[in-house]
Amino acid sequence: MSIVKINAVTVPPDMHERFEERFRGRAGAVERTPGFEWFELLRPIEGTDQYLVYTRWSSEEAYAAWQSSQDFDRAHDGGGDTLAPVASTSHHLWSYEVLESAGPAAD
Ligand code: HEM
Repeated sequence: MSIVKINAVTVPPDMHERFEERFRGRAGAVERTPGFEWFELLRPIEGTDQYLVYTRWSSEEAYAAWQSSQDFDRAHDGGGDTLAPVASTSHHLWSYEVLESAGPAAD
């Protein structure tokens, strides 16, 4: 059963552009991580002001291995940028199990 880890991040409005720009230039290492299944960066439009970084994994262990890897650290060291995870940017990590999922029918 797949699991989903969502990092919900509150970004001050004057930093939105910079935050999105950072993701456009992201490391891209996560795609090559064992057990990685999906990633989406979701920009808030209505009802919330939190960006969501959606990731889906084959198992909790696969996520844990990536989160404690050098790839994760490299993707988040920020090169001294104030948007690095060490910054005061507020965030919450949410965990889910995938119970059901669907895509478009093949026919
Ligand atoms: C305070 C905590 C965090 C902040 C502010 C943050 C912010 C960012 C930013 C700005 C980037 C773009 C890369 C760069 O700047 O070089 C990034 C990459 C990424 N973050 Fe986070 N992040 C945090 C923690 C997490 C956590 C806990 C997850 C787990 C779901 C996560 C998932 C990702 C993924 C999948 C990428 C892309 C990595 C790649 O392309 O290889 N982040 N994050």
